[in-house]
Amino acid sequence: MKKLPFSLVVLSLFSGLLSAQNPDPEVEKKAAELLQSMTIQEKIGQLCQVNGAYGGIPEELGKQVREGKAGSILNEVDTRTLNELQRIAVEESRLGIPLIFARDVIHGFRTILPIPLGQAATWNPELVERGAHIAAVEAASAGLHWTFAPMIDICRDPRWGRIAESLGEDPYLASELGVAMVRGFQGESLADKGAIAACAKHFVGYGAAEGGRDYNSANIPENELYNIYFPPFKACADAGVATFMPTFNDVNGVPASGNPFLFRKVLREDWGFNGFVVSDWESVRQLTVHGVAADNKEAARQATLAGIDMEMASTTYADHLMELVEQGAVPEAVVDEAVRNILRVKLQLGLFEHPYTDPSDFPALANDAHRAVAEQAALQSCVLLKNEGQALPLEAGKLQRLAVIGPLADDPYEQLGTWIFDGDPQHTVTPLAALRTALGDKASVQFVKALETSRTYNQSAFPDAVRAAREADAVILFLGEESILSGEAHSRAHLGLPGAQLELIKAVAETGKPIITVVMAGRPLALGPAQEYSDALLFAWHPGTMGGPAIARLLLGLESPSGKLPVTFPTTAGQIPMYYNHKNTGKPATEESYIHIDDIPVRAPQTSVGNTSYYLDAGYKPLFPFGFGLSYSQFEYRNLRVREPAVSPGDTLVVMVELANTGQYEAEEVAQLYIRDVVSSIARPVKELKGFQRIRLKAGESRTATFQLPAEHLAYYYPGKGWMAEPGQFEIFVGGDSDTGLKVSCEIR
Ligand code: BGC
Repeated sequence: MKKLPFSLVVLSLFSGLLSAQNPDPEVEKKAAELLQSMTIQEKIGQLCQVNGAYGGIPEELGKQVREGKAGSILNEVDTRTLNELQRIAVEESRLGIPLIFARDVIHGFRTILPIPLGQAATWNPELVERGAHIAAVEAASAGLHWTFAPMIDICRDPRWGRIAESLGEDPYLASELGVAMVRGFQGESLADKGAIAACAKHFVGYGAAEGGRDYNSANIPENELYNIYFPPFKACADAGVATFMPTFNDVNGVPASGNPFLFRKVLREDWGFNGFVVSDWESVRQLTVHGVAADNKEAARQATLAGIDMEMASTTYADHLMELVEQGAVPEAVVDEAVRNILRVKLQLGLFEHPYTDPSDFPALANDAHRAVAEQAALQSCVLLKNEGQALPLEAGKLQRLAVIGPLADDPYEQLGTWIFDGDPQHTVTPLAALRTALGDKASVQFVKALETSRTYNQSAFPDAVRAAREADAVILFLGEESILSGEAHSRAHLGLPGAQLELIKAVAETGKPIITVVMAGRPLALGPAQEYSDALLFAWHPGTMGGPAIARLLLGLESPSGKLPVTFPTTAGQIPMYYNHKNTGKPATEESYIHIDDIPVRAPQTSVGNTSYYLDAGYKPLFPFGFGLSYSQFEYRNLRVREPAVSPGDTLVVMVELANTGQYEAEEVAQLYIRDVVSSIARPVKELKGFQRIRLKAGESRTATFQLPAEHLAYYYPGKGWMAEPGQFEIFVGGDSDTGLKVSCEIR
């Protein structure tokens, strides 16, 4: 039982009083000096981000830079052009303030890592950090200073195409991995060679777009805003992320680019952020389209006052800010502050000392070391969803003929995923190529594409696929979604395999051969039917440049799969939103209470007594829960205990569990710790992730895993009151996925 009234514990962790963003007096001094010497025109110039010309410098762009009317360029990656633009800024503009060059380096530059959602499936912050680091080094070698990543929007809706870019549905996992990306991009110091500025985006609530339709409105109550959507952003702000970007959509009716609560109150005042905020592409101008600003001038006024320091692509600042300042509608101090924020980051990056880039100072793009990181990330991102009768791993020694079938088995482009502007399919190793290399002349591999693309309906090549399957000892199907079916502006209403892919599985399965299905996709898919016809199902996301070798190593048993789902897989789109950290409701569904649509007697009288929260036709469980992922080995969790069953708010709970590898393979397991606040002042989730560890164990080996859980991490945000950890009982769960029932109780005094 809770002791009531509850005691309020205001936590420095959440209050933002202890911001990690400490100002450097030298940098502040230089920024202030520069600001002193700037005209209002030059100040406004710093706030303008202009799109590059994709190679070459049109006269107008050169003139803009020379006159100090651009502070940043995006989407130019040609090093000579970048250096020339910089030369104009540094040598020909009056104050010589360098430009900051930006690009969407989302999951790799030339070496493409798995899509961020795939990286999230590794549950491996250290590996994710290494991935971001190689992306930064490659981007920096081209002359870039800044990436618009990580995208840390919490997303509970796989229809939204941008779920591919996200780190999944959980605030804790997204915080840990978002911070890892920030560290990887920015290094120890922004001034380090190969470090680039990161950008926490899209603040906030983009992933909650209604219906999963891109850019759509979101409605998020205060409770959810603070407990679910803010935490990854707060974590990245604390980790010193240099920039923030607003979301395109309106949240509770307010488009973020005009929302002072988000940028002035929460980000600056509460969290102490001292980097700068860049708008999203034309999102300032779009305030007029949302219908909250009558014209572009009003949009510029709202955005500057809201705290959007730099305007991307649209030109409302360039066109109207001067007049707004002259009329007193925007105080010059607001412009000064925005300029200071931008200069601060430019100074921290060392752009004044080292404005130019010489690629020969950097390692080669897509070098072996970078490819090895990409391969490891792909390997750990793959999630084994089904493995009936131990269909996997394939035993290379016993295999004579392998049939490889499907549109994604040998497509160097499609396995790279969304946002790969600077990736090069020529570096890709496909699964087919990797399997052929790995098997050499030990087994023959017959490849039939069967469908031209993942969306193809034409089944004329199916007989070839069936013939190949019949002649083989094992069949591997590579199915899923092409890159362009996920990412920005690519939402889907249906979550099944597109085209005739399901028909392909069915046709091949009729041969009676063991069917291994590998799915590459940018979002969770409703894989129930595919699962039914497959003996084994491996979910590989869009695995990037080195997806092929990683998948081949897993299929051939050189490594065991160890990825875990960072997002719930629903059985059908009709279940959405379906996420693990839901509340209990007053009528939670159970096996006993569930009645399937076919089991309702005809003309049954209406009753709700004894009924619970479920769908007659789609139950109440997802296809695969958050955190789920099989291994070739088996793991057992035993002897879960807490060191002290009752702790005070300032203490740390120590939770121990014995993890045993009881199977036949050396393998890695991600042990997950969840909590449940049993009785609280407002309804709280049935489970919340609060810790995880990736542990490698030999067959037969066991180890005690210890989790340190500061009691303050049991706190939650109570609307209108702030963060608090309420005294009372908590349950601590540990296991291999969010469905785990292994639990122990503890108490906060
Ligand atoms: C996206 C941002 C991206 C920007 C620049 C926008 O459409 O929403 O995430 O960084 O474009 O390319």
